[in-house]
Amino acid sequence: MTDNQSAAVSFPDVAVLGAGTMGAGIAQVCAQAGAKVVLQDIRDDLVDKGLGRIRDFLQKGVDKGKVSAEQRDATLARVSVATDRAVACREADLVIEAVPEILELKNGLFRELAGVVTEDCVLASNTSSLSLAKVFDGVAAPERCIGMHFFNPVPLMKLLELVRTAQTSAATIERVTAFSRQLGKEPILVVDSPGFASSRLGVCLGLEAIRMVEAGVASAEDIDKAMVLGYGHPMGPLKLTDLVGLDVRLAIADYLRKELDHPGFEAPALMRRMVAEGKLGKKSGQGFYAW
Ligand code: CAA
Repeated sequence: MTDNQSAAVSFPDVAVLGAGTMGAGIAQVCAQAGAKVVLQDIRDDLVDKGLGRIRDFLQKGVDKGKVSAEQRDATLARVSVATDRAVACREADLVIEAVPEILELKNGLFRELAGVVTEDCVLASNTSSLSLAKVFDGVAAPERCIGMHFFNPVPLMKLLELVRTAQTSAATIERVTAFSRQLGKEPILVVDSPGFASSRLGVCLGLEAIRMVEAGVASAEDIDKAMVLGYGHPMGPLKLTDLVGLDVRLAIADYLRKELDHPGFEAPALMRRMVAEGKLGKKSGQGFYAW
């Protein structure tokens, strides 16, 4: 576990908007690195659930001997919660947005924030594939806007995909790159293009695996084993689709199909049927696997 509690971090005050799986994980790693974090969502029950996620993850870390009780307590002491977005953001040096993947929602939020945050606050989006030029469209100070794409489970995954728009400044990239390393992540830098580097490749593999289940090539378990044992992936593409959520991946696939105009991103009928039936993967208890 990364814990630079005594070290200065590039962004001492962070606001994380959205207290779902990703938002909670992002808040946790920022607090672990030594930042003061406000985790915001629109209702009390949502922020409580997000905080509960952080508490559970840290406790599991303690049980596994990866986190000390002191680290757990110090991390939790640095996280506070809010339901008011302006209150959460007004003192932040860095705002990381992790709300649902709806372009209008993200863009509206950043436009609203531009009038609230301090003059040198960096605005970051955790979008996994949406155009950042559109996410930040009309936002004042576009040179301080950047993509920070984290991976699930955030505290365990090493990668942080930084996405620059045509207007992101070199100073912003430099500061966010340094912060990524302080979080214990390895950053990569990608230009703003549909699906960036990670989702474009990852979703493509997942969709093809679903087409193979549909065509009866092999069972979900055996297709996953092919990638785990044959290619050294930590997890097969179908289990990973369950982990990410079939609904989340379907939305990305539809977006990439349109933006890249590539038939490889056409969502399989099986995937649409499973989403319509509520078989969303881990979060619903059933996907390609029973959870
Ligand atoms: N706190 C601290 N450490 C913990 C922990 C906790 N709560 N839980 C586990 N760990 C540690 C373990 O002790 C272990 O450490 P060592 O390697 O030192 O032994 C390590 O983390 C791995 O944990 P496990 O052994 O329990 O589990 P695993 O080996 O099965 O790995 C996994 C789990 C990291 C999730 C792995 O299966 C994996 O990498 N899966 C692929 C995940 C992936 O691809 N994610 C990306 C999804 S796509 C995405 O997120 C982008 C998007 O936009 C949707």
